[in-house]
Amino acid sequence: MSTAASLASFDRMWADLGPVGRVASGGYRRFVWTREDAALREWFAGEAAARGLDLVEDRVGNQWAWWWDGPGTVDDAVRAGHTGVAIGSHLDSVPDGGAFDGPLGVVSSFAAVDALRASGVVPGRPIAVTHFIDEEGARFGIACAGSRVLTGALDADRARALTDGDGVTYADAFAAAGRDPQALGRDEETLARVGCFVELHVEQGRALVDLGAPVAVASDIWPHGRWRFDFPGEANHAGTTRLEDRKDAMLGYADLVLAARAGAAERGCVATVGKVAVTPGGINAIPSHVTGWLDTRGTDEGQVRALVDDLETRVQQHGATVTRESWTPTTRFDTDLADRLRRVLGSTDELSVPVLGTGAGHDAGILSGAGIPTAMLFVRNPTGISHNPVEHAETQDCHAGVEALAACLTDLVADQP
Ligand code: GLV
Ligand code: MN
Ligand code: MN
Repeated sequence: MSTAASLASFDRMWADLGPVGRVASGGYRRFVWTREDAALREWFAGEAAARGLDLVEDRVGNQWAWWWDGPGTVDDAVRAGHTGVAIGSHLDSVPDGGAFDGPLGVVSSFAAVDALRASGVVPGRPIAVTHFIDEEGARFGIACAGSRVLTGALDADRARALTDGDGVTYADAFAAAGRDPQALGRDEETLARVGCFVELHVEQGRALVDLGAPVAVASDIWPHGRWRFDFPGEANHAGTTRLEDRKDAMLGYADLVLAARAGAAERGCVATVGKVAVTPGGINAIPSHVTGWLDTRGTDEGQVRALVDDLETRVQQHGATVTRESWTPTTRFDTDLADRLRRVLGSTDELSVPVLGTGAGHDAGILSGAGIPTAMLFVRNPTGISHNPVEHAETQDCHAGVEALAACLTDLVADQP
């Protein structure tokens, strides 16, 4: 296969994935342990098999496609000090998400393997293409659940007990997909194999458009978290209940939404309430319960925490309870690795290969938090929009991403860890 053929292989894989989980909005609904997820897993397994890669599923269900032609097994190589270089991302989506957030990294990783093989590279360390499950947490609420359980950042008991909107537990969904819920937990064997991780991802803002560059290297991820706010009320008739007699759970929720927005503006953060569940959910019934999920992020960890503290205090007047569902502190990616990637990419200044921070969360952040040297590459998104079907990357930029990832990978496997 020539290098050009590896770009054609990218195009072919991209076209193959296109219909999976696509909905009428033009976006995607690819949620963990569903039929669509099974199709994505099968696609991943097929691509691994087509390349003769050794497919391993870890205790959590993350997929790893290993390439190691050296002496012995991957574990032999690791024992000899040659830990693996993992590249990849996720395949799931937010509700009505775009095509690129996640899949671009996985497809680019397979194409990068093709490019190395086309160039006759003989890796001195094992390489894995990785598919992390449930990065968006769209079904069970916890973002990066696959990498969090893998690293122990999310406790297995807590993961098993998570429920989706239909009341199905994570444990039951995992079992229905043919896996053993008791196996969930930090996976030392898998982690021991990973010497470093590089995640390529579509950019989720406009920085690269404005800078006129196709690819960037990441510096950091903002601290971010998710909180669940439960507001109590009392169901009653919308026509016959006097305003002064009502216990309307919606009012506290409305107060939260507006206070979150105002507080975020004051503290230089961002805050989003993108999901709400209203009980009983009748147009003519006063809500007896409202649950709203708050997502808050910012450059300054102290300000993010203070914003949530303010909101917790404020909603006490509505009798609300607040539960932190996830928290990821600031991620600072490995600067040696980032500098190395920029050198490989021929960075001569801040503009040719920019260094960007991001407010988006990634499995790379979780692995970095677990002490694994980790880096990210971002590919230009001309719309600057993400978690929306209009999220986009031009084919030429996707190819530039594959070439950048292949160049980085070639460098990383050329020497010993
Ligand atoms: C994932 O895309 C996140 O940042 O929530
Ligand atoms: Mn996302
Ligand atoms: Mn993503």
